[in-house]
Amino acid sequence: MLASLALCWQILAAKALEEAVFDPLAYVDPLIGASNGGNVFPGASLPYGMAKAAADTNSTSNQGGFTLDGAFVTGFSGMHDSGTGGNPSLGNFPLFPFTNCPKGDINRCVFPKKSRAAHGGFGNNTVTAKPGTFGITLNNGIRADMTTTHHTSLFRFTFPTLGSDGQPAQPLILQDLTDLADSRQDNGSVAVDPETGRITGSARFLPSFGSGNFVLHFCTDFKGADVLDSGIFANSRASTAVNNLTVSRSINGYPLPGGAFVRFNSGAEPILVRTANSFISAEQACKHAEAEIPDFDFEEVSEAATQKWREKMSTIKVSPVGVQGSLLANFYSGIYRTMINPQNYTGENPLWESSEPYFDSFYCIWDLFRSQLPFLTVIDPAAVAEMIRSLIDTYRQTGWLPDCRMSLNKGYTQGGSNADNVLADAFLKGINDGIDWEDGYAAVVKDAEVEPYDWCCQGRGGLDSWKSLGYIPVQDFDYKGFGTMTRSISRTLEYAYNDFCISQIAHGLGHTADRDKYLESSNNWKNLFRPDQTSLWWNGTNTGFAGFFQPRHLNLTWGYQNPLNCSNLDSFSACSLQNTGRETFESSIWEYNFFVPHDQSTLLALLGGPAAFTSRLDYLHNSNITYIGNEPSFLTVFQYHYSGRPALSALRAHAYIPAYFRPTPDGLPGNDDSGAMGSFVAFAMMGLFPNPGQNVYLITPPFFEQVNITSPVTGKVARVKNVNFDAGYNKGVFIQSATLDGKTYTKNWVDHSFFTEGKELVLVLGDEESSTWGTRVGDLPPSLGEYVGFGQGNTTTAATANKTAAATGSLKEMGRAWRGGYFGLLGDQKDESGL
Ligand SMILES: *[C@@H]1O[C@H](CO)[C@@H](O)[C@H](O)[C@H]1NC(C)=O
Ligand SMILES: *[C@@H]1O[C@H](CO)[C@@H](O)[C@H](O)[C@H]1NC(C)=O
Ligand SMILES: *[C@@H]1O[C@H](CO)[C@@H](O)[C@H](O)[C@H]1NC(C)=O
Ligand SMILES: *[C@@H]1O[C@H](CO)[C@@H](O)[C@H](O)[C@H]1NC(C)=O
Ligand SMILES: *[C@@H]1O[C@H](CO)[C@@H](O)[C@H](O)[C@H]1NC(C)=O
Ligand SMILES: *[C@@H]1O[C@H](CO)[C@@H](O)[C@H](O)[C@H]1NC(C)=O
Ligand SMILES: *[C@@H]1O[C@H](CO)[C@@H](O)[C@H](O)[C@H]1NC(C)=O
Ligand SMILES: *[C@@H]1O[C@H](CO)[C@@H](O)[C@H](O)[C@H]1NC(C)=O
Ligand SMILES: *[C@@H]1O[C@H](CO)[C@@H](O)[C@H](O)[C@H]1NC(C)=O
Ligand SMILES: *[C@@H]1O[C@H](CO)[C@@H](O)[C@H](O)[C@H]1NC(C)=O
Ligand SMILES: *[C@@H]1O[C@H](CO)[C@@H](O)[C@H](O)[C@H]1NC(C)=O
Ligand SMILES: *[C@@H]1O[C@H](CO)[C@@H](O)[C@H](O)[C@H]1NC(C)=O
Repeated sequence: MLASLALCWQILAAKALEEAVFDPLAYVDPLIGASNGGNVFPGASLPYGMAKAAADTNSTSNQGGFTLDGAFVTGFSGMHDSGTGGNPSLGNFPLFPFTNCPKGDINRCVFPKKSRAAHGGFGNNTVTAKPGTFGITLNNGIRADMTTTHHTSLFRFTFPTLGSDGQPAQPLILQDLTDLADSRQDNGSVAVDPETGRITGSARFLPSFGSGNFVLHFCTDFKGADVLDSGIFANSRASTAVNNLTVSRSINGYPLPGGAFVRFNSGAEPILVRTANSFISAEQACKHAEAEIPDFDFEEVSEAATQKWREKMSTIKVSPVGVQGSLLANFYSGIYRTMINPQNYTGENPLWESSEPYFDSFYCIWDLFRSQLPFLTVIDPAAVAEMIRSLIDTYRQTGWLPDCRMSLNKGYTQGGSNADNVLADAFLKGINDGIDWEDGYAAVVKDAEVEPYDWCCQGRGGLDSWKSLGYIPVQDFDYKGFGTMTRSISRTLEYAYNDFCISQIAHGLGHTADRDKYLESSNNWKNLFRPDQTSLWWNGTNTGFAGFFQPRHLNLTWGYQNPLNCSNLDSFSACSLQNTGRETFESSIWEYNFFVPHDQSTLLALLGGPAAFTSRLDYLHNSNITYIGNEPSFLTVFQYHYSGRPALSALRAHAYIPAYFRPTPDGLPGNDDSGAMGSFVAFAMMGLFPNPGQNVYLITPPFFEQVNITSPVTGKVARVKNVNFDAGYNKGVFIQSATLDGKTYTKNWVDHSFFTEGKELVLVLGDEESSTWGTRVGDLPPSLGEYVGFGQGNTTTAATANKTAAATGSLKEMGRAWRGGYFGLLGDQKDESGL
């Protein structure tokens, strides 16, 4: 199946070329990531849609609902998240069809989810998934096709002529009160109208990676056959004599099966099932359904969904000439996945009254800030503006920006207050549409200044220590707020970057005193740097590198964490939010050692200069210490740009893709994390990778001969063009020279005006690394400190290199002198003179 798909893409590529019609949807395969822990939602949805229809399986990795891993279908439901870890999300109120109940006896149909799974076997090759539609045929012959509008799913069930007992079809469709995680609480309720078969109901559920709970409602209508009878079921027994039910959570820790069913007198025609959800009421769900899909026209609804996706995805056009279809599939499927989550729940938020948009499923910002939201800033800035307004409104209403949010609840914070980075990124890129930036500023300042009582789920912990010591200590003394007292290193690094991001907004809004204050605290990462710290392998062999971050106690003395702990090679340590977790979250000190996105120049100097920095990055990647399947690795792929070796970033990007990203169901490394992996692929393949929170995109050769990006704001077309493009993509990936709008361009980065002003970047490629393009100090991306230790052509001298070496003694001194330089450089794209 997979080989033929690849072939199919090649044919499509050739066909697209021939007809000079380019349809990006031809290359989207929503099933990428549907097995092997990708956890993507592969079903039908609109961009940012609330309705997400899919078949749900009983896989132990069914976070996204459907999986292609041999698991069985347990139902068809209309709400999902995509790519998440944590518990499975949503999947509420699944439907399940039977062709008939043997001998016409409803009690011979199988109602509970666990037991009906046996009727949910299917062949992989029956699954069809395209943007906006999804279909599957069960082994019992029932075909299910589905499509959606914004709040409503439309399912079309087609039945075999005869049931399993050889009798004519008399379909029964049930709908129960479960969700994927079996988190339903007490008093779920359902009612069926015996006349029309309309089923309505509601229940309380738990969010999948957060605290609290939420109530969801539904409204389901049928068309295509006359209602024979209807009723409810409780546990494994059903009756047509009762038409409503309120069911307790459980007697044995598992929610009691309960729901309603409708039986039809014929299966000759497909039965259409329209089901809408609402967080407000069942009435509102019915209103959505009636307004959005008044006449159950499956073809019309699916055409409209397809067209919505085509519009969204047409922003980026690449030249398919010579390129393997699998790379096109990787690219456009990655783009597609960036618009499944966050979800637009505007008008569906029962928590507060507001005229602002409300977006949910920021799951989680720790994952999304790095490339997914920056990617949407390029292709869909209007949506990002609504998301930013929603984040700021969430701050207004709840007191805090979220770090993670799903199903109307607070999710768990993984590190810093990374919504600060999201706001700064959008602010610097000129996203303004209806955004009150003074309120946005107040929100990020609150993160930096006020410690919440529960910093498990918002803001930051340890602010007293942060301010007095300049770092988060191991086992901090913190009586003001409470959260898991781990991750002191990664929290320190993230808080420092958060403060830098705040300083950027402060600068733009003219709050200069604040700007300087937050720039100052953005240096706090230096306080955990131990120049003499070495790193040994488990067998005692020295990695040969010295200078690592280390945990530090309240009394200023050093603690110890093996710099390789929590790396990809450590399968023993607890590295997530466990109480026994380490001082770095989901990655090693080795990798976090590079997480100083705002001051790579100072970091470079501390690590021994550009050559030492480069060989350390090489070691990180070559020894598998990093893992591209988790987000902290993203920027490390491109950080060679800061040591003047952009060619090595290109080499890494072209090695990770396609080696770790294949356009197959099992082709994603790690969870897609809401589209984070998809955005990594998209940015890396288009040759411009963001340093998020800064107005910076690092240039590498795109995987295509040309990439055209139309700015939805200005309508102008930005273009990256490879000269000497080698479609084999692993030769000729080195930029020899470049022009920007026809003028020689040696900087290895551009800013966001590249997109909004429709600039043209022409890259001349060659087989060898260039010693001149993007390598001189003046070519490097902005950084707070001074770049030192670079060779000629550079403004650097041995004396300044020495200044840095000396400064390791008084780390706080560093960076200060160069602030002016940093801001001078911003917006300085046309100045070729460098620093
Ligand atoms: C297809 O089905 C088999 C067995 O049911 C399963 O193990 C496999 O992973 C499935 N998916 C793919 C993409 O082959
Ligand atoms: C899923 O359902 C099938 C069919 O009943 C069963 O064999 C399998 O064990 C179930 N899987 C899980 C993880 O429960
Ligand atoms: C469920 O309903 C019963 C009866 O109305 C009530 O006593 C109980 O508090 C409810 N449980 C919850 C969790 O609301
Ligand atoms: C539930 O059923 C009872 C008895 O069958 C009936 O009196 C009541 O009106 C029903 N309630 C709803 C909401 O349908
Ligand atoms: C990109 O735009 C240029 C200029 O309009 C055009 O010549 C080229 O064909 C476009 N390339 C693609 C891949 O659409
Ligand atoms: C979000 O939903 C609202 C209400 O339906 C709509 O007005 C808005 O255009 C949607 N935004 C996006 C980005 O889809
Ligand atoms: C120790 O482990 C490292 C990393 O696996 C390996 O490169 C090195 O050769 C090993 N040294 C010895 C003496 O086995
Ligand atoms: C500092 O604190 C650590 C952790 O509590 C303790 O082990 C160490 O002995 C203390 N050192 C001094 C000099 O007080
Ligand atoms: C991680 O660190 C702990 C404590 O230092 C150590 O016991 C463990 O062996 C380390 N993990 C690995 C894989 O070495
Ligand atoms: C790194 O991992 C890849 C993929 O698992 C493997 O092929 C390679 O040999 C590993 N390299 C090292 C140095 O362990
Ligand atoms: C700049 O660096 C190159 C490469 O290291 C070196 O050959 C050259 O002499 C340097 N130029 C200056 C002006 O220092
Ligand atoms: C750098 O500093 C060291 C000691 O601080 C000194 O010995 C050396 O001469 C200095 N080198 C230069 C080039 O200034």
